[in-house]
Amino acid sequence: MLRRAPTRDSHFVATVVDNIPDNAAADLILSPDVEVAPEAGQFVHVTPAALDTGSDPLLRRPFSISDWDEKSGQFRLLVSPVGRVSQFLREVRPGELIDVLGPLGTPFPLDVPGGATAILIAGGIGIAPLIFLARRLTQRGVQTEAFIGAATRDELFGRPALAGMDISPHLCTEDGSTGERGLVTGPVERYVQKLHESDEAVIFACGPEPMLSAVNRLASRYGIRAYGSFEAHMACGVGACMGCSVKRTGPAPGEQSYARVCRDGPVFDLKEVVSLD
Ligand SMILES: Cc1cc2nc3c(=O)[nH]c(=O)nc-3n(C[C@H](O)[C@H](O)[C@H](O)COP(=O)(O)OP(=O)(O)OC[C@H]3O[C@@H](n4cnc5c(N)ncnc54)[C@H](O)[C@@H]3O)c2cc1C
Ligand code: FES
Repeated sequence: MLRRAPTRDSHFVATVVDNIPDNAAADLILSPDVEVAPEAGQFVHVTPAALDTGSDPLLRRPFSISDWDEKSGQFRLLVSPVGRVSQFLREVRPGELIDVLGPLGTPFPLDVPGGATAILIAGGIGIAPLIFLARRLTQRGVQTEAFIGAATRDELFGRPALAGMDISPHLCTEDGSTGERGLVTGPVERYVQKLHESDEAVIFACGPEPMLSAVNRLASRYGIRAYGSFEAHMACGVGACMGCSVKRTGPAPGEQSYARVCRDGPVFDLKEVVSLD
């Protein structure tokens, strides 16, 4: 496909190449009509062009880029059906068109020190940006451990993509239907306890805020740097409306300020986010 040159916050049309079921979610392969070069942790703001519903839904919806193939330019979204747009995306067929703004947001930092382990922690559909991150880290030779938690086995997503990178995630479900029964932070804590004092690790997490809070507490107990990708209901998606704000520490010591999940995030250093304290 002939692609247009990219612009900042490109507005483009993506053609659905494939729609592969992953449990109840959809793993979408999309071909953009512009050149995009996303980073792991960035998202796209989507309204399906074919969804001819006037002003409903009025707002675009954010979805993490779950993978990107540099050669073909195609990118992926992993979509869990919870409402109008995600349900529509789950059902799109090859050849259909999707209206996209992006890539948006600040990505995960990739400066994992040599020899350190990257610990990826996902809650439910929070695995989406961590798949792309796992690809980036493994390409750089970073030792990567993944932990996925969900309420039930139907909400464990992303395993086929991780298997393709030779990553066997530790699995947890709250009802015990697959893997260990309980919260994902349980096996993460046991893993961290086994690390030797000289072993360095960096945590990357994405999931509901209570999970990010638990990860933040765990990380500060063990003195591990931790980054989390936040979900917020968004309006503009490009930093203009402050509709997605979280409170964070700084800029000066002792001060607090508002940061926009869509522009300053969605990835934040967990110890800087005040609501997680
Ligand atoms: C940065 C980012 C990345 C994301 N990545 C992914 C991803 O990779 N995959 C994925 O499946 N999802 C992802 N999400 C979540 C997704 O954007 C939302 O679930 C989105 O609302 C789905 O749109 P919808 O039209 O299907 O459902 P909606 O109609 O938006 O409804 C979804 C749920 O949210 C509730 N809701 C809607 N609006 C509000 C509001 N203003 N306040 C409180 N509750 C509200 C609804 O009642 C419903 O329970 C991401 C969110 C963010 C912020
Ligand atoms: S959604 Fe408007 S500033 Fe983030």
